[in-house]
Amino acid sequence: MKKPIYLDYNATTPHDPEVIAAMRPFLEDEFGNPSSSHGYGIPSHKAVMQARRQVASLLNCRPEEIIFTSGGTESNNQALKGVAEAYRDKGNHMITSQIEHPAILQVCAYLEENGWEVTYLPVDNQGRVSVSDVADAIKANTILITIMHANNEVGTIQPISEIGEIAKSRGILLHTDAAQSIGKIPCEVDTLGVDLLSVAGHKVYAPKGVGALYIRDGVKLPNLMHGAGQEAGLRPGTENVLEIVGLGKACEIAKRDLANNRLHMQQMRDRLLEGIKKECAQVKLNGHPDQRLPNTLSISFRDLEANRILEEIGLEVAASAGAACHSDKVEVSQVLKAMEVPLEWAKGTLRLTTGRMTTAADIDEAVQVISDAVNKLSRSTFKTRS
Ligand SMILES: Cc1ncc(COP(=O)(O)O)c(C=O)c1O
Repeated sequence: MKKPIYLDYNATTPHDPEVIAAMRPFLEDEFGNPSSSHGYGIPSHKAVMQARRQVASLLNCRPEEIIFTSGGTESNNQALKGVAEAYRDKGNHMITSQIEHPAILQVCAYLEENGWEVTYLPVDNQGRVSVSDVADAIKANTILITIMHANNEVGTIQPISEIGEIAKSRGILLHTDAAQSIGKIPCEVDTLGVDLLSVAGHKVYAPKGVGALYIRDGVKLPNLMHGAGQEAGLRPGTENVLEIVGLGKACEIAKRDLANNRLHMQQMRDRLLEGIKKECAQVKLNGHPDQRLPNTLSISFRDLEANRILEEIGLEVAASAGAACHSDKVEVSQVLKAMEVPLEWAKGTLRLTTGRMTTAADIDEAVQVISDAVNKLSRSTFKTRS
């Protein structure tokens, strides 16, 4: 049976064939422990070092400033809990936004339960944090600002460099969750002005369960796990060599092919939007019109229910919903709520995200499938009402 057309690249990505090729020797032959000094350990050790250089090269930082983790969630936990613990004597206030991923919001909630104070900044209707709101939220006890680079649902890109200037001038650390931006837009740490940055492997065509955290030289974090001294003592435990190699290769490709990939994803996404707009009457785009990830299309269909659309298209197109409708209530995502997308639009929101492997033929077929479903559901909604 033909698999559905995959338009959910922000959820996860397939493995890049070059990533698979780079990982293969470590699946088949090279099993040594990177900490062993004999002939089995050395290739693994070298491979981890190379991967660290590859990640550092994408972020334009030093390899020593990268630690490998199990993914975006762990990187965010390490960054936020680490700063909270290490800088406690300087203050106990953090600033974040209302539209962060749960891997930030839940960490903040945990810290609040443990005596921390967190300011959750609002966003505008296009999903952007205001730089002046960030400046106004800073207090004498603020030690960290954590704002995501780009949003996973609507793709809006935040003004991180401008926030970075403020953070620097006020002596406050800045972390960004770049899980969604790596490989889609440039993510260089000095341009962004960040002290900490989280990477998730499976969003950039590497395997699930691997990630990285950039820690600017001089930022002192404690280790959350205790054990042997791997990853500069911060992340003890024998390295996940296979996947670290995959992440390294994925970052090398992300840097090498950024311009082409970005253009391709954007062309596919815009073709999708234009096609849907031509076929469907009541359509609204969510997120910023241009400060947005090149692959992300959050689109609302008025008065429809997203899960009904997904049910209709599910065998042919794989996508995500921005709201879940139950028999008695509609659960709109935190992001759409914060953007104040009206309920009649929000409840019919789909997230369609393109990737490197998306083809024009996929898009044309997806346009047809989605439009047919939307028009069929609109007709039945209209009939029920009249
Ligand atoms: C913005 C953002 N941050 C963090 C994560 C979590 O990353 P991981 O699944 O690697 O833990 C995700 C994954 O959906 C994400 O989109």
